[in-house]
Amino acid sequence: MVNVLTIGMIKEAADFIRSKTNMTPKVGLILGSGLGVLADHLQDAVSIAYSEIPYFPVSTVEGHAGELLIGSLNGTPVVLMKGRFHMYEGYGPELTAFPVRVMKELGVSALLVTNAAGGINTSFNPGDLMLISDHINLTGTNPLMGPNDNALGVRFPDMSQAYSRRLRELARTTAKQQGISVQEGVYAGLLGPTYETPAEIRMLRTLGGDAVGMSTVSEVIVARHAGIEVLGISCISNMAAGILDQPLSHDEVMETTDRVREQFLNLVLAIIPDMAK
Ligand code: 6GU
Repeated sequence: MVNVLTIGMIKEAADFIRSKTNMTPKVGLILGSGLGVLADHLQDAVSIAYSEIPYFPVSTVEGHAGELLIGSLNGTPVVLMKGRFHMYEGYGPELTAFPVRVMKELGVSALLVTNAAGGINTSFNPGDLMLISDHINLTGTNPLMGPNDNALGVRFPDMSQAYSRRLRELARTTAKQQGISVQEGVYAGLLGPTYETPAEIRMLRTLGGDAVGMSTVSEVIVARHAGIEVLGISCISNMAAGILDQPLSHDEVMETTDRVREQFLNLVLAIIPDMAK
């Protein structure tokens, strides 16, 4: 399949969003499983249902329909996705990252992506936060596949610093100040929706993966194509298959994200004002 999302469609979606708010967001936020609580801390927020926004996909998994929120966090204008799009839902990679294109059009220069991920690195524990230093795209596809529009970005984007060193340092320093310990590592992004087998996890460890998940990669590729600086944080919600002698479940993922929510929230709230620079 080729990329069918044009600049015209991006502008139409952005124009619609602008018609609902006077705010110009500087930072974009895409929040993973159980981490959407940040939305409750927005000031002067305007909510727009995904179903209203031209060309926006509509989420199929969450119990509720997704919404885009624009508001202020600690004085910084942000646009926040409550609910994201996964390829395992059946969306093409370019569609899962369409909101990132729209964020760029709205004026966003930095993006925070968060997710719940399985721990591959055996020194990790459920509940750890991991700054993503890099990713391995194992989804088997790429959101930039198809003709390239040079107005959006270059044909062959450099991915040597996909996850901004500046923002990682900012996150590390902030975490230290708050007495939160953070891990750092490589996120292996797979299609899902099955969790991996123990053999696959051994393979991913050999390849250099520290955590594994089913999101983030396509969003970050598009963000880099668009020249957006990226900070990625994984919540290690469970150990990946074969590490502990227990089955994996989405319930465990939600329980762990519930447990670290407060810590995670404080870290992110402190970082955001400095992300915009
Ligand atoms: Cl173990 N694997 C994947 N692919 N995604 C996850 C996970 C594991 N734990 C949380 N999300």
